[in-house]
Amino acid sequence: MVVSTIILAAGQGKRMRSNLPKVLHCLAGLPFIEYSLRAAASLGDTLPVVVVGHGAEAVRAAVGGRARFAQQVRQLGTAHAVMTAETLLSGQSDLVVVISADMPLVTPETLRRMVEIQSINPGAFTMLTILSPDSHGFGRVLRGPDGSVRAVIEEAHATPDQLAILELNAGVYCFSSTWLWPALHHIKLSPKGEYYLTDTVELAVKDGLRVEALQLSDPSEAIGINTRVHLAEAEALMRKRINQAWMLAGVTIIDPDATYIGPDVKIGQDAVIFPGTHLRGTATIGLGSQVGPNAMVVDSQVGRACKITSAVLEGAVVEDDVEIGPFCHLSPGTHLATNVHLGNFVEVRDSYLSPGVKVEHFAFLNSATVGENATIGAGAVVKNKVPSGAVIVGMPVRPVSSLKGSD
Ligand code: UD1
Ligand code: CA
Repeated sequence: MVVSTIILAAGQGKRMRSNLPKVLHCLAGLPFIEYSLRAAASLGDTLPVVVVGHGAEAVRAAVGGRARFAQQVRQLGTAHAVMTAETLLSGQSDLVVVISADMPLVTPETLRRMVEIQSINPGAFTMLTILSPDSHGFGRVLRGPDGSVRAVIEEAHATPDQLAILELNAGVYCFSSTWLWPALHHIKLSPKGEYYLTDTVELAVKDGLRVEALQLSDPSEAIGINTRVHLAEAEALMRKRINQAWMLAGVTIIDPDATYIGPDVKIGQDAVIFPGTHLRGTATIGLGSQVGPNAMVVDSQVGRACKITSAVLEGAVVEDDVEIGPFCHLSPGTHLATNVHLGNFVEVRDSYLSPGVKVEHFAFLNSATVGENATIGAGAVVKNKVPSGAVIVGMPVRPVSSLKGSD
């Protein structure tokens, strides 16, 4: 079965009160749209179609070559948004998955399960629903006496009885392609002046076709981000999800609520991560290393049995048994070989420090190459080659009396 995916991302996201398009706001250090792109990629090789509108240029630039784009010039509703992808996708696939870029917590596993259900459903489509007493403004799912899905009513149009329904539309669907494209043209304008994708339910029922529902066991997957309050909720859920996975994989996280790990980070067994630590981008932490408290490791590789306290590492490579900190800064291009020791207040930029080098306190190394077991003293500024075993003396402050004497 060929599956294509449409990612809806044309909405303005007014309630974020931001100049940045909503889907470029970050969750665990990555723009939301990234999660939808990854989920789509997990469903097959066909490039997804991203429907862009508000902030289209910025969204296109962030996505690059990982999707094709459909431009929705006016935001006339979710059905209208899907329709803008028709010329790109009609006749190209058996199933069409529709997701919203503002729902980054939906997992690839859930999407795959939906696709599995729809691939044996002779009916029109499968939709994702959640049971939750907190409606989040979602549409309510109406079922018939036989339990089958009959309609979705938007909150704005629901009667008090319908508002009491606990089953909510998550806004994620897997359609039969041959049914979807003609059906969209039958959707009528809602009283709010939008074409609702949710009206496909009633159209399918009228056609005598079954709509399947996959009810989510974990309602947190369906959290939609409309405000920065939702953003913080989603951030907390994502943090919990990522940290739990690492703890189950053998990493000690002292305080998971105060540890911030990006989805592309790798951590070895028996590493210990202390509070206030941010691991971002492609950071990797080797077996048994201790990171934190208060460390930030971005796009850097840290070897085994290292100890990093209150430091910032950006684009650095750190081999095994290295101690860093407190209060150090490693900038891109820095490479510390095994057994290097950096004490407090040391900045290293674009430099190579050979095995056993010691820089105990207050130093700046820039484009330096330091030989094995050299020692750099306090207050030193090093920008050149330092031979192995050398001892570079820093800048001792002369006594005040001798300063006076030299006037
Ligand atoms: C939609 C569903 C609602 C469901 C909820 C779950 C409809 C009519 N309602 O409501 O039943 O409970 O999702 O999150 O579908 N978008 C466009 N172009 C448009 C309009 C929207 O691209 O013209 C995009 C938005 O950027 C967003 C997604 O579609 O990513 C959903 O749109 P939104 O307006 O947030 O729909 P909801 O009101 O949340
Ligand atoms: Ca929404």
